[in-house]
Amino acid sequence: MAGAVTKAVIPAAGLGTRFLPATKALPKEMLPVVDRPAIQYVVEEAVDAGIGDVLMVTGRNKTPLENHFDRVAELEETLAARGDDARLAAVRAANELADVHYLRQGQPLGLGHAVLRAKQHVGRSSFAVLLGDDIIVDGGAMLAEMIAVNERTGASVIAVQEVPHELTSSYGIVTPAETDEALDGAKWPLVRVASLVEKPAPEDAPSNLAIIGRYVLRPEVFEVLERTGPGRGGEIQLTDALQELAADPEGTGGVIAMVFPGRRYDTGNKLDYLKANLELAAQHPEIGPAVREWLRTDAAALGEEPGA
Ligand code: G1P
Repeated sequence: MAGAVTKAVIPAAGLGTRFLPATKALPKEMLPVVDRPAIQYVVEEAVDAGIGDVLMVTGRNKTPLENHFDRVAELEETLAARGDDARLAAVRAANELADVHYLRQGQPLGLGHAVLRAKQHVGRSSFAVLLGDDIIVDGGAMLAEMIAVNERTGASVIAVQEVPHELTSSYGIVTPAETDEALDGAKWPLVRVASLVEKPAPEDAPSNLAIIGRYVLRPEVFEVLERTGPGRGGEIQLTDALQELAADPEGTGGVIAMVFPGRRYDTGNKLDYLKANLELAAQHPEIGPAVREWLRTDAAALGEEPGA
């Protein structure tokens, strides 16, 4: 049976090609969202959901991530000597957040392969997977709820959202099961998953319920991943392993999808990245009031066609 969820795995080996040239010399996870690198929001979300142990599965050129979650003695001393307590606290926050571990993926064989690399670290308990491209600004509420559903039902739990039908080819898409099983008691709707498919063309998509980069998985997923061959794009797909778990609700608890109604940003997409910046800037304790004022007054003029 699955135990309490205390560990999170964050795959962070991707090349960030969607954001070139900004990501030529900087890992995509380090792109700032207002005043923190995008990856810090993801770690904060895990911590807010009660997880204190984070394993990042990284690759070459990702040392800035390790530096970010480590201490910087010289900088801390300089800020302390200046009496700049606010910045000192902000610098220390990143390395005091969680117990962060790193493991290299080795070969870029796909998301399923990156998750499989975490097998030894995770052990025999259920664990969370958070994809760094997705930013969900909800103080960890969705992930905490997913963990509660995993603990209550013994199922692996994935977060999904409805996407426009023409975008199904960017996501793992689920087929809801036709069942009269009562799945309630959660803050948001729960759906038993009959099957999953990675990035189907719109004409082949069984629904428009898309996986949004948050998973709470039973440890049996590792054994399945070990025998999962290359799928879509020639990569070992996590979605394909979940398909096998979904097909075996008696043995491994099956898969339940939680339909998250809140906002989620894909920071690998330029427009979404800008929207995430605007939302978080508007909520920011220091610059929030000025940003909201600017959005109400001057920002509308930017919506005019250039030269109009
Ligand atoms: C991955 C998953 C996909 C999921 C998506 C969410 O794809 O393979 O199933 O829907 O993340 O962001 P990627 O965006 O890494 O290509």
